[in-house]
Amino acid sequence: MISKKFDAPHTTGEPAAQGTVTLAHLSDPHISCMNEITGRDLAGKRLLGYLRWKLQRGAEHGEHVLAALQTDLALTEPDHIAVTGDVTHLSLPAEFKKTKQWLQSLGTPSRVTVIPGNHDAYVKTSWRQTMAHWTDYMLPDNFPRDNHSAEDMNTIFPCLRIRGCVAIIGVCSARPSAPHLAVGSIGAGQLQKLAKILSQTARERFYRVVLIHHPPVSGSVSWRKRLTDAAALQSLLTRYGAELILHGHAHRTLRRSLQTPDGNLPVVGVPSISALSRKPERRARYYIYRITPVETGWEVRLEVRIYSPDDNRFIRESEQQFSHPVPKSEQIPGSRGPGTAYAL
Ligand SMILES: [Fe+2]
Ligand SMILES: [Fe+2]
Repeated sequence: MISKKFDAPHTTGEPAAQGTVTLAHLSDPHISCMNEITGRDLAGKRLLGYLRWKLQRGAEHGEHVLAALQTDLALTEPDHIAVTGDVTHLSLPAEFKKTKQWLQSLGTPSRVTVIPGNHDAYVKTSWRQTMAHWTDYMLPDNFPRDNHSAEDMNTIFPCLRIRGCVAIIGVCSARPSAPHLAVGSIGAGQLQKLAKILSQTARERFYRVVLIHHPPVSGSVSWRKRLTDAAALQSLLTRYGAELILHGHAHRTLRRSLQTPDGNLPVVGVPSISALSRKPERRARYYIYRITPVETGWEVRLEVRIYSPDDNRFIRESEQQFSHPVPKSEQIPGSRGPGTAYAL
């Protein structure tokens, strides 16, 4: 379905490739298997989630919207697709099996990057029965295939995938939390590795796109849905910069920014990709970024595609263009020039 231009991952240690890269961003499909649930599945927090789905949330999401998405992606043909979490609803093994098939329908693991959301870590689960179904969609480039540390979020993330001129950097904020909470956290280990990745990819002049489920800008969501270490992430981004932050979780269109040494860093959230809402800001959408390297940095053309319930298809909602300067290398701590090798 999507083009084979950027199938093969690049290695780091070399300057970014030239040419336009098309990156699609979608989030929060909340794919469920409620008809297959047994009483044994519904202990603790899952029981509350199940009841809320039956009373309200189930009516907010439509699998036919995901079918319309497939049709639209066949037309828009992005080079790469980023999925920023809440792919499942209750983190049930059956949901992970079903969502693996959905991911396969979007593309191969080299063309689709997935990071988990709080609903994918709804309760503590067996890795083999859940996340193992997606591992290939989350792993960084060049991760050893037989490495058992791939069964640990803190080893996999931050995940760096290089596609043309773009460095896709996945951060995991998904952690099981108490009933009625949907908070997330990154943790000191991931933040430390993230600083190195941002610094290195800036030196190599990649367009750095950070994927995270929870919005990093304070006040974007309520206290019970917040990123608990948002301040630490903000201070890291202020120091090392990035070109674009993409998130989900809020289930509505959000456009915020963070101040970095190079100006405003856009922070963009998308609604649920399966949302049926008639409220415009909450209806299913996905964003397509066409990123082109230029002498002074990058030109980005952003197309927003929204689900039209009347037509049962996605249509263009808006289009805009913006540009990013190349980061000022003297402001990136540890900068030693392009192509410097690093270990995580
Ligand atoms: Fe969600
Ligand atoms: Fe979420």
